[in-house]
Amino acid sequence: MKDLKRIEIIDLLQGRATLEIGKEICVKGWVRTKRGNKSIAFIALNDGTIIHNIQVVVDLSKFDEDLIKRITTGACIRANGTLVESMGQGQSVEIQATEIEIYGEADVDTYPLQKKGHTLEFLREIAHLRPRTNTFGAIFRMRHAMAYAIHKYYNDKRFFYWHSPLITASDCEGAGEMFQVTTMDLNNIPKTQDGKIDFSQDFYGKQTALTVSGQLEGELGAMSLGKIYTFGPTFRAENSNTPRHLAEFWMIEPEMAFYDLNDNMDLAEDFIKYCVKYALDNCKDDLEFLQNMYDKELIERLNFVVENDFIRLKYTEAIDILLKADQKFEFPIDWGTDLQSEHERYLVEKHFKKPVILIDYPKEIKAFYMKQNEDGKTVRAMDVLFPKIGEIIGGSQREESLEKLMKRMDEMGVPKEEMSWYLDTRRFGSAPHSGFGLGFERLLLFVTGMSNIRDVIPFPRTPKNADF
Ligand code: 4AD
Ligand code: MG
Repeated sequence: MKDLKRIEIIDLLQGRATLEIGKEICVKGWVRTKRGNKSIAFIALNDGTIIHNIQVVVDLSKFDEDLIKRITTGACIRANGTLVESMGQGQSVEIQATEIEIYGEADVDTYPLQKKGHTLEFLREIAHLRPRTNTFGAIFRMRHAMAYAIHKYYNDKRFFYWHSPLITASDCEGAGEMFQVTTMDLNNIPKTQDGKIDFSQDFYGKQTALTVSGQLEGELGAMSLGKIYTFGPTFRAENSNTPRHLAEFWMIEPEMAFYDLNDNMDLAEDFIKYCVKYALDNCKDDLEFLQNMYDKELIERLNFVVENDFIRLKYTEAIDILLKADQKFEFPIDWGTDLQSEHERYLVEKHFKKPVILIDYPKEIKAFYMKQNEDGKTVRAMDVLFPKIGEIIGGSQREESLEKLMKRMDEMGVPKEEMSWYLDTRRFGSAPHSGFGLGFERLLLFVTGMSNIRDVIPFPRTPKNADF
C-alpha cells in the first residue's frame, strides 16, 4: 500500500488543505456506516476532527471480498483514494478508494454502537465508547473549545494562570463535603493516647483532603500578582444525585485585587458572554447538530444571553418576588433560606426572562470569607443564575479586615491557627479584592443544550459511580 501523508477530514470538508481534485490522498478514521449494493460500497468515515464524515466509495470489483466484509461499523481503517467532487447531497467531496488497510476490526455482534439512536442513559454505561457517537464528539469538541476560550480570555486580560493545590487541609466552603486523602492502613488506623485518630502518622503529618475550591490559595496569588485565575478539578463529597451535580467537576476561579463587587459582576457577565460568543463563532457545526437533536432553541438562547444585560438584584428583593410568585414551590422560601434550583429558575425563566445576578445574601447561608455589609445581616455575595441551569457562578467580594474576618471565623468555627497562612493576606498589605467560581460543566450544559451534567464530562464521577 502506498505511503501517503494522512489528511484530516476537517481539512478535506472545509477545503483548508491545498487540495487538487483528482489527486490521490490518504484518510484514516472509524467507520460510522457502510451501505451499498453488489457492485459498490459507501463507507462513511469519521476521524473526530469534525462532526461530518467523508464518504469513501469502493468499487467492489477492485477489492478482495473478504477485506470489504471485515469493514463494519466501528472498525478503524486507512484508505488511499482519489479525491473527487461528490454527486451526493450534503457533501462537497468524496474519495474513490484505491487501497484500504484495516487497522482494527469491530465485531458486529459485540460492538455496542451498531445502530444509531441509543439513549443517553445507555451511552452513559459505555462512557468509554460514547465519544465515537456524533453527540459526544460534538460535546467534547465543544468542551475543548470552551477550555481554550477561557484561557484566551484571561490571558488577553492579563490574568495569570495560577495553580492552587488539589490536596489541602482547608475546607474553603466550610460545608464538610471533602474527600479525605490518606495513606494510613484503614484496617489498622493509628490512634493517639486519648483514642483519636493520629494524623501525625499520616503521609502529610496532618489530616488532608481533596480541595473543594482553589479560592483560598488563589487569593494569595491575587494579593501579589494582582489578577489570577485557576482552572482545575475540584471535588465535593455531597450526596446530591441531581442533573447538575458532580463529585468531581472543573472550576474556573478568577481572583482580583482592587475589585469591588460591581467590578466582580462586570467581569463575570463579560466573561460568560465571551465564552458563549466563542461557541457561537467557533462551534457552528456541532451547535447545529445539538440543536437539531436535543434543543430546538439552543442557538437562539445563546444569542439571547450574548445580546442582553443581566439583571442585578439584591437577595432581599428576590425573596419579595418569590413570596408573591403565582406558583407553588416544592421548597418553601423565606428571608434567610437558601434558594433552591426551582426558585432560581422561576426568577430567571418566568419573572425576568433574563440571566440574573443576585447579591447581598444573608451571612448565615454563605462562607466565612465574604465581605460583611454594614447592616450586620448580609454579605457581599453574588450568584449568577442562568436559564435551564440555575446557579452557574458563585462568588463575592472578600472580607479584607483581619478583625472582622477573625470574628466571623470564630462564629462559624473555622480553625484560625491552621489558616494562619490565609490570614496573613489580611495581616500584611491587605486590600479590597473579589473573585468568583464558574462551574465548567454548568457552562457546558448551557452551551451544548444538554440537560444532564453527566453528559458533558468524559468520565463522570457521582455517588456510587466511579467507573472507567
Ligand atoms: O458556589 P460555589 O460553591 O463557590 C465556590 O466554590 C467559591 N469558592 C468560588 C469562588 O468564589 N472562587 O461553587 C462555584 C460554582 C457554582 O456556581 C457551580 O457552577 C459550580 O461551581 N459547582 C458545581 N458544579 C458541578 N457539580 C457540583 N457539585 C458543583 N458545586 C458547585
Ligand atoms: Mg454557590
